[in-house]
Amino acid sequence: ATLAPFVDPLPLPARARPVGQRAHPAWPGRLLPCYRMEMRAFAARLHRDLPPTPQWGYAGSAPGPTIEVERDQPVLVEWANALPARHFLPIDHTIHGAEADKPEVRAVTHVHGARVPADSDGWPEDWYVPGRSALSRYPNAQDAATLWYHDHAMGITRLNIYAGLYGAWLVRDAQERALGLPSGDCDVPLFLCDRLVGRDGQLYYPVSDDPAAPWVMQCQGNAVLCNGKLFPYLDVEPRRYRLRLLNVANSSFFELALTHGLAFQQIGSDQGLLPAPVERSQITLYPAERADVVVDFAGLAGQRVQLQLHGGGILEFRVGDRGRRDDSVLPLRLRSVPRLDIAAAHDRVLTLGEMDDADGNALRMLLDGKHWSDPVSERPHAGSVETWSFVNLSGDAHPVHLHLVRFQVLDRRPFDLFAWNARRQLKYTGPAQPPPPHEAGWKDTVRADPGMVTRIAVRFEGEPGRYVWHCHLLEHEDNEMMRPYELLPG
Ligand code: C2O
Ligand code: CU
Repeated sequence: ATLAPFVDPLPLPARARPVGQRAHPAWPGRLLPCYRMEMRAFAARLHRDLPPTPQWGYAGSAPGPTIEVERDQPVLVEWANALPARHFLPIDHTIHGAEADKPEVRAVTHVHGARVPADSDGWPEDWYVPGRSALSRYPNAQDAATLWYHDHAMGITRLNIYAGLYGAWLVRDAQERALGLPSGDCDVPLFLCDRLVGRDGQLYYPVSDDPAAPWVMQCQGNAVLCNGKLFPYLDVEPRRYRLRLLNVANSSFFELALTHGLAFQQIGSDQGLLPAPVERSQITLYPAERADVVVDFAGLAGQRVQLQLHGGGILEFRVGDRGRRDDSVLPLRLRSVPRLDIAAAHDRVLTLGEMDDADGNALRMLLDGKHWSDPVSERPHAGSVETWSFVNLSGDAHPVHLHLVRFQVLDRRPFDLFAWNARRQLKYTGPAQPPPPHEAGWKDTVRADPGMVTRIAVRFEGEPGRYVWHCHLLEHEDNEMMRPYELLPG
């Protein structure tokens, strides 16, 4: 039997509160708000008619509590691993970093999109076991944006996030506030992910047919969760709302649309506001991408509007008959996003591909033909602008994410794969395609299409140290499609 749609209210993540104030040597003489985020096992119903589903989550919920910060106001977070000693999802011990001699349960949190010192970025090998924690510092010296925190433990990130270890990190600032966009309870995060859910309510993670090497190249679910629920509904007033759409799935991309001929006014992408709103009838998000949209339910009093994914309803908005006066505005201009000057930029050509490893016949996903443990090859100087050209040699799109920085999409251009394979020569077969308006803001994750060279421009702002860049398809990231990079002093 199929589950009755739209019988559960949409859960709204709690707002995290600091547990106290604490000093940190990076900000001498100051006391900073300090949060404590404990990762715990819990069980919650994904749907009224399913038994409770065992999951892992920050503060015992998935999504975890939202951390809301103000630009330039640093905070500290103690990320505490209070998880059980055994994992409930299938670990592949043939994968780098997840060997059988490693503890089964390991965690380390990364704030996706945060401009953060290397010691607090959640280096994948800096994981800690149950009973341990890490204190991280976040300067929040960046524009308002919808960021998110999630696990990043080497070799098992896909399993830890799948288990529920993710939540929102919202940066707010005065410029954005001054615009008068919908706010308060009209500013709603929507975390979307798919999961394989059994009739017993259990989460299943797909496995290969080799029990000794269960890793799979992609993970597709049979249920789409919206803030941890299957087919929830949300009561709204006939007015404007700001919805923060986040794709937190392991490897699925989502094509979203609204019924009743409603359009999204997209106002932001990964790293905050676009130059101007972009009207879109459909939005496609790859894993880790975000889209902030304004939806206006005025004129739809009494109606039930669906958010649809690939044509099927996943969330129902129940528009009430009346509401408070709508004072929010949708400005014609949101902010200026000056294009980076790339005239003197160093260009790095980096391949995205898959290959059979020499150490056996396991399939590995590689960045520029290198493994995680190969020497660091990308060493930009702080303050410099570089262009990175992702040459996709594989048959699939990969969402590529760089830690620490924000970037601009320059273009995508088709190239001749045979010329590349024969002579490592970049031969273009068509004109460069500039990014569409909804990709004209600041991004931190970019879709690199198959058969294309996807070019981004990055200014490497931040503290020197080691960071990572990777494919955000979590199955790929865990299986070598992640590389370190080192930010050198300017
Ligand atoms: Cu969403 Cu390495 O990150
Ligand atoms: Cu990938």
